[in-house]
Amino acid sequence: MKKVLKFFGIFLGSVVLLIGLFCAYVAITGVPTYDKPNIPEISVEITPARVARGEVIANIQCMECHANNKNQLTGKYLGEVPAIFGKLYSKNITQDKVKGIGNWTDGELIYFLRTGIRRDGSYAPVMPQYPNVSDEDLKSVVAWLRSDRFPVQAVPEEPQSSDLSIVSKLLTHTVMKPLPYPQHMIAPPDSTDPIALGKYTADAVGDCFSCHSGDLVDQNKVHTERTKGYYGGGIEMTGEGGKPVVTANLTFDEETGIARKYSKEQFIKAVKMGVRPDGSILRYPMTPKLALSDQEVGAIYEYLKTVPKIKNDIKQKSTELEIAKK
Ligand code: HEC
Ligand code: HEC
Repeated sequence: MKKVLKFFGIFLGSVVLLIGLFCAYVAITGVPTYDKPNIPEISVEITPARVARGEVIANIQCMECHANNKNQLTGKYLGEVPAIFGKLYSKNITQDKVKGIGNWTDGELIYFLRTGIRRDGSYAPVMPQYPNVSDEDLKSVVAWLRSDRFPVQAVPEEPQSSDLSIVSKLLTHTVMKPLPYPQHMIAPPDSTDPIALGKYTADAVGDCFSCHSGDLVDQNKVHTERTKGYYGGGIEMTGEGGKPVVTANLTFDEETGIARKYSKEQFIKAVKMGVRPDGSILRYPMTPKLALSDQEVGAIYEYLKTVPKIKNDIKQKSTELEIAKK
């Protein structure tokens, strides 16, 4: 018996030592860098239609994380990120050639938006990747970044650098990874098929699934529907004034699903205006997605009907959280 215990002790000791060494290694090396990528040669023609579409995507994506309080994309502090991930700042993506992205090529921008890898091989773990946004939509984002619109005009400012916690650094050595650059064209959805349009708008463009599924980090960005807790909600986020706010269960589960309690019109109003049917306001970081069309948001509603139901009582969870924090 003693022998077994001793063996077990040594075993446990070695595991603890190994974990300790791994943490020390991670703390010293930080976020891993990758091989310098082969940047594709892409030259995006700036057309009014692309700038307009790019602006829609930018309004529900890029602006949220990169815009300062004057609506310029100078980068900012990301206060809604839970504290265990560290203090995170986005970057200046205005047309400034030094502080912004004025010197990036179109290919570099598209490569980065798909994979999370910059031209020098460095990896940006917190910046979302966009593997399923169509080629045409990504070109539209680039056209918008190059346009004469106010938010993207050069501003020579620089936000603070992010201070990633050891937890975040550990994640970049384990589950947070760059994505491969797609080998073939990513086509847009068939806009006459509400379910295809809904999935595309919710998962590829709106990134709704990443806040409304089971985990903020452990997600399948390419095959989004394989993400655990897909649209079952329940992630605790930091809302206005540091107050916790839990993401909603958007499945059509009979008891705990929220979307089911809405008519399509009410759902469109909630997502676009940020107001529930009873008049209450949706809290930050659920920001109104006014840029999306009624057709797109209605399509999300149709798509959510087809998503496997998940029983997850968010009301219960939010109440427990509020009691625990008191
Ligand atoms: C969830 C927040 C978030 C969203 C949404 C987001 N970004 Fe970012 N972005 C970041 C963060 C944080 C960084 C800095 C990453 C780092 O330093 O590792 C970043 C970095 C970048 C960079 C690299 C800049 C540099 O100098 O290294 C580019 C380019 C960029 N984002 C473009 C975009 C575009 C275009 C969109 C919209 C399609 C977008 N981002 C949406 C958070 C976000
Ligand atoms: C940054 C994270 C985030 C993203 C992205 C996000 N949501 Fe939310 N959503 C939340 C949070 C947090 C709440 C809860 C707000 C509250 O309780 O006040 C919420 C609430 C909702 C509600 C209201 C549920 C209720 O309580 O009545 C709906 C509907 C909704 N989201 C739909 C969407 C759709 C559709 C998208 C994509 C277009 C989306 N959300 C994207 C975080 C997010």
